[in-house]
Amino acid sequence: MKIVVVIPTYNERDNIKILINALLQKFALFPKYDFNILVVDGNSKDGTAEAVKDLQKESKLIYLLEETSKSGLGSAYIKGFEYSISKLNSDYVVEMDADLQHSPEDFVNLISEIEKGYDVIIGSRYVKGGSVPNEWALYRKLISYFGSLFARTALRIPIVKDFTSGFKVTKVKGVLDQVDFSKIKSKGFAYKMDFIIIFSDMKVKFKEVPIHFGLRDRGTSKMEKTNFKDSFNLVITYFKERNKNFLKFVMVGFGGLFTDLLVFNISNIFVRSATASIISGSVAMLFTFTLNNFWSFRDRKAISFRMLFPTFLFYVASSYVPILLRSYLIHQLEVVYGESFLISNLGMMLGISFGIIWNFTVYSKIIWKKKNA
Ligand code: GDD
Ligand code: MN
Repeated sequence: MKIVVVIPTYNERDNIKILINALLQKFALFPKYDFNILVVDGNSKDGTAEAVKDLQKESKLIYLLEETSKSGLGSAYIKGFEYSISKLNSDYVVEMDADLQHSPEDFVNLISEIEKGYDVIIGSRYVKGGSVPNEWALYRKLISYFGSLFARTALRIPIVKDFTSGFKVTKVKGVLDQVDFSKIKSKGFAYKMDFIIIFSDMKVKFKEVPIHFGLRDRGTSKMEKTNFKDSFNLVITYFKERNKNFLKFVMVGFGGLFTDLLVFNISNIFVRSATASIISGSVAMLFTFTLNNFWSFRDRKAISFRMLFPTFLFYVASSYVPILLRSYLIHQLEVVYGESFLISNLGMMLGISFGIIWNFTVYSKIIWKKKNA
């Protein structure tokens, strides 16, 4: 079984020598695996590529890809993945930083999980036993932790605790080779989140292994100021893409609410409130059905022309549950507190609140149920 450790470098001459030597020693602990190291150098100015070429004279396990210019971390990794898959026939690829913040000891722990059948093994700072450097300023710890938490929550991927870890082992067959690299939105550090999101959609088997994220002791961090913004934008972009239906549903809901209240108060001039609420409810119901069916849930529209009528009947029947309930509620409120604009509209609002919960449940669970791909 072939495992390729992909290491991106930018000005890591001293670190890369130490790391490669340490890794070569650790490889010996796993005689059943066939290891390679693939350094992807972003045209470093400090002689990193030359240092790697020197090491290549001593070990045949080392490969070097030289980029013509620094193209970003995500972009460097994708080049590394493509090379590992097509040229080195790897079964697993490892992502690891060159600057020794990812320790060779943790490397051993990650590799040890492979035989347990996981697809993606993440070196995690945020599971029990994992850590970030004590020396980090509080704000840095907070940004890192809450950044991960924000991404997990917004994208509803709770199982991955460390969303931005750059220390990982990924299976190639059926996992990495199924990813269309042109779909990776970020060329920079945020590529890690792209992959987690795509893997989560693929329902791969994740495993998080605790790691101690160390301090960089040589060279300088390449973390750019734009990283934070890029990562945030990436999460928002995915969030919007994934919640399009819900956002549209909310807009239609507001339209329906407005229609309902307007028609209610107009018809209330001519008929009693309890009756007016049934008229306005019926109008609002038609309004929201049309917009939800042809707009908000258009991509889920399981409703063929033949099914449109029965679905519509079901929709009407279900919608009359909250409509009739609120008509009864308004009537009762008026019996107790007397008829007034305030009382009837209060009854309407209470009824509408119940209606929103009822309808969203029926719409998303029954009528416009997400088709399982
Ligand atoms: N080829 C190439 N091109 N390599 C790069 C580039 C690039 O544009 N940018 C950075 N690198 C290399 C660095 O030389 C280093 O080996 C590795 O990528 C990570 O860069 P660092 O500068 O050390 O990043 P960091 O310590 O801020 O970063 C890390 O952020 C995370 C979240 O806190 C990550 O790399 C993570 O692994 C970490 O989890
Ligand atoms: Mn680093």
